[in-house]
Amino acid sequence: MKLGVVILAAGMGKRMHSAIPKVLHPLAGRPLLGHVLDTAQRLGSAKTVVVYGHGGEQVTSALAHRECTWVEQTQRLGTGHALQQAMPSVQDLDRICVLYGDVPLVDAQTLRRLIEETGDGALGILTAEVPEPSGYGRIVRDPATGKVLRSVEHKDARPQELEITEVNTGFLVADRLRLQDWLERLTNDNAQGEYYLTDVIGFAVADGIAVATVQAPTLEEVSGVNDRAQLAALERYYQRRLAEELMRRGVTLADPARIDVRGTLAAGRDVTLDVNLVIEGHVSLGNGVRVGPNCLIRDAVIGEGAEILANCVIEASEIGAGARVGPFARLRPEVHLGPQTRVGNFVEIKKSRVGPGSKVNHLSYVGDTEIGGGVNIGAGTITCNYDGANKHQTVIGEGAFIGSNTALVAPVTVGTGATIGAGSVITKDAPPDQLTVARGRQVSIPHWQRPRKKPKG
Ligand code: UD1
Ligand code: MG
Repeated sequence: MKLGVVILAAGMGKRMHSAIPKVLHPLAGRPLLGHVLDTAQRLGSAKTVVVYGHGGEQVTSALAHRECTWVEQTQRLGTGHALQQAMPSVQDLDRICVLYGDVPLVDAQTLRRLIEETGDGALGILTAEVPEPSGYGRIVRDPATGKVLRSVEHKDARPQELEITEVNTGFLVADRLRLQDWLERLTNDNAQGEYYLTDVIGFAVADGIAVATVQAPTLEEVSGVNDRAQLAALERYYQRRLAEELMRRGVTLADPARIDVRGTLAAGRDVTLDVNLVIEGHVSLGNGVRVGPNCLIRDAVIGEGAEILANCVIEASEIGAGARVGPFARLRPEVHLGPQTRVGNFVEIKKSRVGPGSKVNHLSYVGDTEIGGGVNIGAGTITCNYDGANKHQTVIGEGAFIGSNTALVAPVTVGTGATIGAGSVITKDAPPDQLTVARGRQVSIPHWQRPRKKPKG
């Protein structure tokens, strides 16, 4: 049984009031349509077809790296018409599952259940129990047998049908050949003058084909995004679920409502995360890692027992075991901090390695630098790595001591065990194990007198 997935995504998204097509708006850092494509993949879709319309170019180019077939629906004539556009692309498949580009959180597990419970050649529909079902299509059942008869759109429903709280979520799975036949029979003779995909339910019943139903376990799973408030609500739902999952795996969260994971977070045992943490990309935290309040961590690997204090921004970096970073530190891409290192407040480091146990504790800029182990970088030290055209390397040997407010003009090497006097501007290599001082000598002038004001007149 080869399964194909068709994702309907030609909606306008008018209520987003946006220049960006609705399905490209991000949820947890990824476009809505990206979530749905992931779900299709999880279902083992042999071929995924996306029906796009509004903002077409933008959609196909933003997701050009994804494996799927793009089909344009030039006129938006209804969900049935949208699916018709995709049918020529799925001729080699046995079964079709229909998903929606603006319903991002449908669970693959739920869809798998729907697929399993729908017999060969049958039609399966995902329903939901909605206490206030206004706007949804309603599932009409035979009062005697409870069997599904049809689905009726809100705008076409009779008053007693509007009382029905079992709604059609739009998700369905069907035999490809039967679906093809039903789609050809659609008309737009209804309140909205559209080709309703939901009419296939009535056709199946008329043809004596079994209609299986599965009820969605949560409403959020089948909720669409039409405006930014709904987008925010689904974002919160998604983040809440992730937070619960993290706690189940042994992570302590100061407040499960104040962590946002826009990517993937792997965490060891006894990790403690304070409030307002934003995770982006792939982040891995070793056992016992502690993160203070208000941090942004993107694409980082943080070793066992390391501590990130409040208000740090860490990007594409690796932090060794037992290191301590912050508060107010910024690690830009390609920083490797060795084990037991210290990076303190108002320190920016870029594309550098810091050896084991070394300290850069206060107010420094370190860029394109190789620092050995056991080095102490004094407050206010700056590597002058850029000459206006090119970047240059600084090398600081093991055990070196850089006095406060030193400027290291790269390319430059400070030898092993060297000491640099505070306030130096180092433009030439400093030899190992010696004191190098490069600043004006202090002089005191005895009997010197301050200028005095000339008497007037
Ligand atoms: C649809 C269902 C309704 C169901 C509801 C669930 C139909 C006729 N009705 O109604 O029974 O309760 O979803 O949310 O299917 N789309 C296209 N091309 C089109 C029209 C729609 O690609 O020509 C896409 C939209 O982008 C959207 C999806 O299909 O992703 C559903 O369209 P929408 O207009 O939201 O349908 P509803 O009126 O909400
Ligand atoms: Mg809708």
